[in-house]
Amino acid sequence: MDIVRTERGLRKVIWGWRGSGDRIVFVPTMGALHEGHLTLVRLARKRGERVVVSIFVNPTQFAPGEDLDAYPRTEIEDARLLEAEGVDLIYVPDPQTMYDVHHATGVTVGGVAKGLETDYRPTFFDGVALVVTKLFNRVQPDTAVFGEKDYQQLATIRRLVDDLDMPIKIVGAPIARDEHGLALSSRNAYFDADGLALARKLNGIMKNCASDMRDGQHVDKATDAAKAALLEAGFLSVDYVEVRSPNSLTVLEGGYLDGPARVLVAAHCPNGDSSVRLIDNFAV
Ligand code: PAJ
Repeated sequence: MDIVRTERGLRKVIWGWRGSGDRIVFVPTMGALHEGHLTLVRLARKRGERVVVSIFVNPTQFAPGEDLDAYPRTEIEDARLLEAEGVDLIYVPDPQTMYDVHHATGVTVGGVAKGLETDYRPTFFDGVALVVTKLFNRVQPDTAVFGEKDYQQLATIRRLVDDLDMPIKIVGAPIARDEHGLALSSRNAYFDADGLALARKLNGIMKNCASDMRDGQHVDKATDAAKAALLEAGFLSVDYVEVRSPNSLTVLEGGYLDGPARVLVAAHCPNGDSSVRLIDNFAV
């Protein structure tokens, strides 16, 4: 397995593979890898001959005051895990070459990227769309795998490749959870025992919300009850609990389930004297 840090080094390997007709499957990450990321890698393996994983903590998707500097960086352990999964190449671009001092171009996605996360992190998807566009241009994959854990991100990337005619197939991977139903996340590493115990309650509360809606309860009533239950359990605040159509992420008309939908949630879980923002989503 190669670890490549330069664009030139990357191109050389990619061109070699392309020349032999190998299909390249790409899994972009910010590192601090866990079993959730590894499920993406395993899915990637099945989709082509060569698997490339990038590790880059992308500054443009962090707002001032977010955890960019504190974001866990565990490259040696990450490389060990990826090697064991049979990954062909890890791309670890140097931040200076991703965004040099003259960088002046942005990528903005509307529609699916508006609302939900954007109401709380206004520039987040612009940063994601920019870095993913740059990584796609560098890696030139046939297929790229993203997790449903970040459901609005996955929808945004699908929109991006359609709108900008990028010849890349986007594959969504199901959410990997721990045995208590907590979605695996690099930020779970921040939790102390009490924080983790509370975070694990989110799954049950959201499942109740989904089953209330399935039983015919009005969407607003079910989501209000879920917000109240999260606060009652000890969450500090709830950014949103919303039900959307699964592909376009539009608000359901009529207020009752009439087909497949997705419940999306973001809430702040206390942890010691700070908090961790959890996002999750469930099919209904
Ligand atoms: P990161 O948070 O490292 O996640 C990398 C990929 O792993 C994303 O597609 C994410 O949805 C997926 N993932 C994380 N936890 C998961 C879980 N429990 N189950 C399934 N998939 C999971 O998302 C990013 O990085 C960045 O925004 C990135 C796309 C790399 C752009 O910088």
